[in-house]
Amino acid sequence: MAARVACLPGDGIGPEVMVEAVRVLDALGIEHAEYPFGGAAIDALGTPLPDETLAAAREAEAVLLGAVGGPQWPPGACEKGLIDLRGALDVYANLRPAGTLVIVRELVGGLYYGARGTRPDGTVFDTCEYTPAQVERVARRAFELARTRGGKLVSVDKANVMETGRLWRRVVSELAAEYPDVELKHGLVDSVAMWIVMHPEEFDVLVMENTFGDILSDVAAGVFGGLGLAASASLGDGTLGVYEPVHGSAPDIAGTGAANPTAMLRSLVLALEHSLGEPEQARVLEAAVDAALASSPTPDVGGRATTRQFGDVVLRALAPAPTVGSSR
Ligand code: NAD
Ligand code: IPM
Ligand code: MN
Repeated sequence: MAARVACLPGDGIGPEVMVEAVRVLDALGIEHAEYPFGGAAIDALGTPLPDETLAAAREAEAVLLGAVGGPQWPPGACEKGLIDLRGALDVYANLRPAGTLVIVRELVGGLYYGARGTRPDGTVFDTCEYTPAQVERVARRAFELARTRGGKLVSVDKANVMETGRLWRRVVSELAAEYPDVELKHGLVDSVAMWIVMHPEEFDVLVMENTFGDILSDVAAGVFGGLGLAASASLGDGTLGVYEPVHGSAPDIAGTGAANPTAMLRSLVLALEHSLGEPEQARVLEAAVDAALASSPTPDVGGRATTRQFGDVVLRALAPAPTVGSSR
């Protein structure tokens, strides 16, 4: 039988932060199993997304993913496993909360999935393509999310230059009639990037193309404390979701014990909420992580705790020691 949670540690700091998430899963009594993915899977099995891993991901309730990639593998080789996994599971709406805003990144289309290749003259090309239906389904998710939050949605595009940008704007505008309670604004990606840096508090929910979302989610993470904090949830039409930090394998700090497991643990919070049907456990874990950030921060957020020490503080908060003299 498949595990409830399929854990894909991957490479670099991926396995280091995954260990802390697995300790939390054990403490919560949630069954899980680990599968090879990314560079580690290339080394062991010759492919970044082995069949066994994809099958386990399909059968799980949630996929927890560390990070993939590193200088020891050919560029793009590990990352292809991640892009293929997202496509195969059709998790098209990638929610990336950062501070007071949430970016909804279209995850299985756009520039990442369009036609690409090399022409005989040596020209290399990647193309950005969207069907109206692809834009509509992710925009709908963003409207629905905005409705449960501050009621404000900014749709981000490059409609002043790109055909896909004009399609994006038209489809989102048409959908707005169904959500009169949501205030919709359109923004061009370059100026929205600047506004996120200068006035992040003005945003609530933002929705955008795959590549724009990749870039702006790192920008938003930077504005709100760094990549060590930024979690994500990738959702499709069913309850299965892929939960992963926004950050990568961080080869510059891998093996030093300095990785901040917050992004990974907050991704687990999102999994408890959206796929595992455990909203109360989600709140408890979220509070435990916030407390650990306050008392035992890792170096990226100005402290000295190691990944393991941070995890220890989270676990202690989840399972408080019995008080002296307690009858239980
Ligand atoms: P990165 O996100 O790995 O690291 C950027 C910077 O942020 C580094 O200085 C790193 O030390 C720091 N950082 C990231 N996560 C941190 C954490 N949890 N705690 C403390 N500091 C943290 O980006 P990069 O260096 O450009 O990419 C490295 C590799 O990761 C590349 O191969 C890239 O393709 C891959 N990548 C994978 C994913 C993923 O698997 N989801 C995401 C992004 C990048
Ligand atoms: C992310 C990462 C991935 C992406 C890479 C590793 C394929 O940067 O999840 O943000 O670009 O989507
Ligand atoms: Mn990215």
